[in-house]
Amino acid sequence: MKDLLRTQDLSRADVDLLLDTAGEFSENPLRSATALANKSVAIYMTKPSTRTRLASETAVAHLGGTPIFIRGDELQLGRGETISDTARIISGFCEALIIRTFAQSDVDELGVNSSIPVINALTDDDHPTQLLADWLTIRENFGKDISGRKFVYLGDGNNMSHAWLTMGAIMGAHVVAATPSGAWAPDAKVVEKAKEIAKKTGATIEVTNDPEAASKDASVLYTDVWMSMGDPESERAEKIKALSPFAVTENLMSITAADSIFMHCLPAHRGEEVSASVIDGPKSVIWREAYHRRTTIQALLYHLTRGELSGN
Ligand code: CP
Ligand code: NVA
Repeated sequence: MKDLLRTQDLSRADVDLLLDTAGEFSENPLRSATALANKSVAIYMTKPSTRTRLASETAVAHLGGTPIFIRGDELQLGRGETISDTARIISGFCEALIIRTFAQSDVDELGVNSSIPVINALTDDDHPTQLLADWLTIRENFGKDISGRKFVYLGDGNNMSHAWLTMGAIMGAHVVAATPSGAWAPDAKVVEKAKEIAKKTGATIEVTNDPEAASKDASVLYTDVWMSMGDPESERAEKIKALSPFAVTENLMSITAADSIFMHCLPAHRGEEVSASVIDGPKSVIWREAYHRRTTIQALLYHLTRGELSGN
């Protein structure tokens, strides 16, 4: 496996290896302080980022490398240079490319045309690196035996819902996406792919419009913003109305399992997708989850640049 372009690229063995290594980086951030010594990693983002940018830059630094952060408007790519020419140039200077942008197809094209690992740091369709941090958080809370547990995403059927279903499928979990039907449901192709993976791993993939049935006895309630980067403002009012039954409130949390946790990739909008009392309450693990962004990206860079992931 050369790149991490989509969550579905990862095998269960890859995720286990990455989470083990991330755990080691958590204990000793400088365990592999020369892995990228005298090397550089390009981080190119055409959308804003707080966590992923900071996690990526610090991860590179902890591996002894130099992060080169490039904003969307700073490459000739924005002035018509092709993706393939850009990929070739970046490959000549850097050991890896971390990219956040809109179209998944642009990331796929960079992957095909780069000789170095390309890592998807969020597209309109997926957010694989987030899910590594999420599953490290899940493992930290519940251990490796997740049998009998239910992992529920509530809200917009967006990039996070896709990544949640796909990673749950890879991990053999019972995963649920509770979303409105129609325009804000997860992409049917992604659900189909998750079900295909689930057949091999023993996972259960469920998509529902019923937030209460989904939350009943759940081990995790997970949510994300209702308006993602790039979503048209003209849809805001209609979208918020459709999503309001899926807000994670104290009522919903009260019907989950006794040891349940609340997760959110952040940024959050208190009073929209989640009540302040839930996200700032005793079941919330958001800060630990955000902290795991660095160690998991560090593990990903470490193993991808060494060619140690098998892929699906
Ligand atoms: N969760 C996440 O990707 O956050 P940023 O958009 O701040 O990077
Ligand atoms: N769905 C959100 C995730 C942010 C981390 C977005 O794409 O804006």
